[in-house]
Amino acid sequence: MLGSANADLVVAVERRPAGGETVLGGDTVVMPGGKGANTAVAAGRLGCDVALVGAVGADQYGSLLRESLVSAGVRVESVRTSDRPTGIAYITVTPDGENSIVVAPGANSDVSASDVDALSWDGVSVLVCSLEVPLSTVEHAVAVAAGHGVRCVLNLSPVTAVSPEALALLDPLIVNEHEALALADSFEGLLALGPRSAVVTLGGRGAAVVTPEGVVEVPAPAVDVVDTTGAGDAFAGALAFGLSRGDSLVQAARFATRVAATSVTRAGAQPSYPRADEVLA
Ligand code: RIB
Ligand code: NA
Repeated sequence: MLGSANADLVVAVERRPAGGETVLGGDTVVMPGGKGANTAVAAGRLGCDVALVGAVGADQYGSLLRESLVSAGVRVESVRTSDRPTGIAYITVTPDGENSIVVAPGANSDVSASDVDALSWDGVSVLVCSLEVPLSTVEHAVAVAAGHGVRCVLNLSPVTAVSPEALALLDPLIVNEHEALALADSFEGLLALGPRSAVVTLGGRGAAVVTPEGVVEVPAPAVDVVDTTGAGDAFAGALAFGLSRGDSLVQAARFATRVAATSVTRAGAQPSYPRADEVLA
């Protein structure tokens, strides 16, 4: 996994403030997050052999993230300690479980092509990237990984203009429904951007798997939503685990929708990710 590691500073609010407005919320809860670390923890907790490539600061939040990664079984030898502070995500969660997030990237801005060049690709079958680290680093990683015969997955979140060369190496490109419809007229249309396949996450409705053979919709189990933060990252981590053990893309997406659905029934991102025996049927 290549991507961000953030401390999530989470506050529950009745509703989001408008510009110039102040609302009072609950107590701040600090949890390990960041799209890259979340994806790695999701896979690690399911039993996947996984490493994170990223950076944290030499501060308490960096330690919090390292501890969360290690306790989920994620290898952290490629998580560098940067001079910059650990990334922080300021998150408000409303009673419907929806969130709004502002990210201060900090050390994540420092993840560079030289971090990628220092990696060994022995035994690596799948690389998953997300985009709270520099785009140029992600594009470099995809090129290098593909050159080693590694299957490349990109969670295009937050949505960013990725080079056609990198897009063409993705199998799959993962986007949510809003991102999909910002990029193409239809789910099938995503393949015209270049990826070999695409997966569109549909929130509580599951996901759509898009390949040249067509679109297959995969439903999600119905759940009581507590907090959707990091559900997309749980999906990406579980999908990668499925692919790494030889599942088809549709099988992996079916598994990933169940993992993501389980995660939304609990608060936070990483703390909410299930072990294999906890995944909803
Ligand atoms: O995708 C959810 C994540 O986005 C949060 O954990 C937060 O850190 C932001 O990166
Ligand atoms: Na959650």
